[in-house]
Amino acid sequence: TQQSLIRNFCIIAHIDHGKSTVADRVLQLSGVVSQRDMHDQFLDRMDIEQERGITIKSQAVRVPWVKDGTEYTLGMIDTPGHVDFTYEVSRALEACEGAVLLVDATQGIEAQTLSNLYMAIEHDLTIIPVLNKIDLPSADPDRHAAEIANLLGCSPDDVLRVSGKTGEGIRELLNQIVDEVPPPHGQSQAPVRALIFDSVYDPYRGIVTYIRMVDGELKARQKIRMMSLGTVHDPGELGVICPDMIATKALGAGEVGYVITGVKDVAQSKVGDTITTETLPAEQPLPGYRDPQPMVYSGLFPVDNAQFPELREALDKLKLNDAALVYEPETSVALGFGFRCGFLGLLHMEIVSERLSREFGLDLISTAPNVTYKVTMEDGSQHLVKNPSEFPDGKVKKIVEPLVAASIITPKEFIGSVMDLCQDHRGQMGTMEYLSPERVEMHYTMPLAEIVFDFFDQLKSRTKGYASLDYHEDGEQAADLVKVDILIQGDKIDAFSAIVHKEKSYTYGVMMTKKLRELIPRQQFEIPIQAAIGSRIIARETIRALRKDVLAKCYGGDITRKRKLLEKQKAGKKRMKMLGHVEVPQEAFIAALSTG
Ligand code: GTP
Repeated sequence: TQQSLIRNFCIIAHIDHGKSTVADRVLQLSGVVSQRDMHDQFLDRMDIEQERGITIKSQAVRVPWVKDGTEYTLGMIDTPGHVDFTYEVSRALEACEGAVLLVDATQGIEAQTLSNLYMAIEHDLTIIPVLNKIDLPSADPDRHAAEIANLLGCSPDDVLRVSGKTGEGIRELLNQIVDEVPPPHGQSQAPVRALIFDSVYDPYRGIVTYIRMVDGELKARQKIRMMSLGTVHDPGELGVICPDMIATKALGAGEVGYVITGVKDVAQSKVGDTITTETLPAEQPLPGYRDPQPMVYSGLFPVDNAQFPELREALDKLKLNDAALVYEPETSVALGFGFRCGFLGLLHMEIVSERLSREFGLDLISTAPNVTYKVTMEDGSQHLVKNPSEFPDGKVKKIVEPLVAASIITPKEFIGSVMDLCQDHRGQMGTMEYLSPERVEMHYTMPLAEIVFDFFDQLKSRTKGYASLDYHEDGEQAADLVKVDILIQGDKIDAFSAIVHKEKSYTYGVMMTKKLRELIPRQQFEIPIQAAIGSRIIARETIRALRKDVLAKCYGGDITRKRKLLEKQKAGKKRMKMLGHVEVPQEAFIAALSTG
């Protein structure tokens, strides 16, 4: 494809503002997907995305578009909107020269509208502002166009108006992309340099690597070299996505496509690496990506410990498609062998464990998530604690926790409620700006641990769903934190240990002991459940002794029915974890760990 006729752009927006729906209309209008094959959110290819109605992965697709008799090649990338997937967006931006900034005309600018916009500006992309959902009666395009114009320093008339639902305005949008987004500026005659911006493990084809060609022309059958790893591979296939994978003979500068190398080792394809050719290698690799820092950690354990090797393999494969995932092996007294995994947030964590169970058939338990702490002991030793059970014994001098800079956009009538909520979560207020006479953006510095768990749900409920939240890491602070242990019959259960603020430690102890009392079935003997800080017990519950007689309800002599019940009881036993002398059903663990 001639470089001057290529336009690469991504669609960025706050969650649910309609990126995938607008992308659907683009696919349809350009004829890439026929009416018959069309279904909603076409590019959300994973089942989880379809079911939840959210985009998790960026998807690149090639779209032909004719304007004034000339055929252009548009490279479109639909990106996710949720804050946990910002890293996906940042990589997509690297593959584009333009960004369509989509804003819901009923809602206006929201927190991720701003964070995604700032990222796109940082990458020097041409921004095309667009109001979506203008078909809705509650749309207020004039007001929100003014808001956007104010933000971008453009005229309200420069803000396009479209409907992803009816398709109105999509043709104009594509024409504007052709006119305003610059063609890619790589050198077509230089040695090949292509950036790996994503990859995926395909059970039938092996590792599929998505690339953005920057310089030169890569031909099928040319040997390729991964510049940071130094490895050389025979490419099996080269092609473009339109909307399925279509093999091509070559990919030129500026094009977005894929390479399949036939390599089985998942470590061989690293997102952010530069591909060049073996015969005429480039001298300098492309800048690549900064590895994202995990925000929260949690342990993932196979319910059946024999599945540990499968879990390792599954994580290796999933990492190909999820560069933000990190993991290392860990052992727990209560749960056996598993992995300590780092995630970008709770939604990310949820999606990873769901993908592991769906795509790899694994049955997993995950422990309560926590952030990382830097612990300094009286003896001067320092520890990075990613797991409460690794908390050092002895006298603690100082515990330092990570902070985030949070921005909250809300209608002004909720300012008071938002301030109360942030205060409850140890937030320090910063500045506050009016986006329009009705809506404000509030800035807070807050401990990460206070924001990642239930903060967002509470924010939504206190603002009737109107507030939006964005945050990023921003320094650290010393805080009054303690480790609370949970003991069952005097044995410390590592999976239930947590690091919490001193003021909330008592509440945590009471909540966990109560919950476990309800979840653990009575047994032949009395079981004390305690919460402790060091050797000090702060809460206690007791499970009274009882023998469960499954036959109690069976009168008369139906022996087969009795046998069935006994069998059922036996099967139920298999799923018990023995903790000392106490049998704890698997479900109790899952339930106790589910909401922390
Ligand atoms: P994420 O990828 O999860 O951030 O969401 P998204 O921005 O891709 O939003 P999506 O396209 O999934 O749309 C969100 C909801 O808005 C869906 O229920 C769509 O049907 C609806 N929607 C999108 N565009 C329009 C529109 O122009 N008009 C109307 N009425 N509804 C729309």
